[in-house]
Amino acid sequence: MSQNILKTLAAIGAAFAMSAGSADAQTYPTRAVTVIVPFAAGGPTDVIARIVGEAMGKTLGQQFIIENVAGAGGTTGIAKGAAATADGYTIMMGHMGTHGAAPALYKNIKYKPDQDFEPIGIAAGTPIVIVGRNNYPAKTLQELVAKLKADGDKANEGHAGVGSVSFTTCTMFNVMAGAKPARVPYTGTGPVINDMLADKLDYACDQIVSVASQVRAGTIRGYAIATDKRSPALPDVPTTTEAGLPDYKVSAWNALFAPKGTPKDVVAKLTDALDKALSDAATRKRLEDLGGVIPEGKERGGAHLASFVKIEMDRWDKAFKAGGVMPN
Ligand code: MLT
Repeated sequence: MSQNILKTLAAIGAAFAMSAGSADAQTYPTRAVTVIVPFAAGGPTDVIARIVGEAMGKTLGQQFIIENVAGAGGTTGIAKGAAATADGYTIMMGHMGTHGAAPALYKNIKYKPDQDFEPIGIAAGTPIVIVGRNNYPAKTLQELVAKLKADGDKANEGHAGVGSVSFTTCTMFNVMAGAKPARVPYTGTGPVINDMLADKLDYACDQIVSVASQVRAGTIRGYAIATDKRSPALPDVPTTTEAGLPDYKVSAWNALFAPKGTPKDVVAKLTDALDKALSDAATRKRLEDLGGVIPEGKERGGAHLASFVKIEMDRWDKAFKAGGVMPN
């Protein structure tokens, strides 16, 4: 075949692929969308993914199916999501740990949070609450700090793996409190809270959405919330300022990402569906009842998330370096 014919065939092929691509984007989605949650079921990331996924599915006319892929503080599931086919049928719920803190803690992490994704948007802010088992002999935050200082590694703390939000934020808390507990890794804070309910764990630092119902029901103790103001979801839980540890202030966030190379108009449809979910009264109520903080205005969408990820990576990198915490 002559060179000219080959070139013509290649051009026809490329034009066909482009028009097929945009037709795909126009009809997207024609089947269910998988959302990888990089932690166990029942934890904050899972809960948020299920709530917004249900609403996004209604907007886009297809089901959003949750796949829990836990391990290595959330980095196993996110690495799987980053390597998935970039067609909009696999996306993932990342968070402050997987896309902010983890890169500073793992030398061989398999993805770059600011390069390997198409950001869709922040789904919810999640203030940190210091919680403990109900019968732990420390009733206030000050009593907890005193007990942890005295007990050393006789006290145990549950977290969701190195790099997770619970690990990162309790590392900060332990330093400030002078605590050196036994730190017990789990596949997510869903199982952490289950073991706390079974009196196997003393305390944890968890995102509000995973603990609000249990604290309200009185089945676990909420010592303090690490924000400036109390949460309407936990009006009886004091802020860390009220409870005597004013420098401990930290909130996490959960956000949707698609793999790098997902067509822009597909990402735009996902961003729009997330936006509609976050404006939907019933979805807002479900998130807010659990203490989730809904992003508004400029905090929504992919462009904001892209710059926010960079800020978070830098913030945690500096914080760990300042604290002498080295990557594994
Ligand atoms: C989870 O869903 O289990 C959490 O987001 C884990 C964490 O990062 O602490």
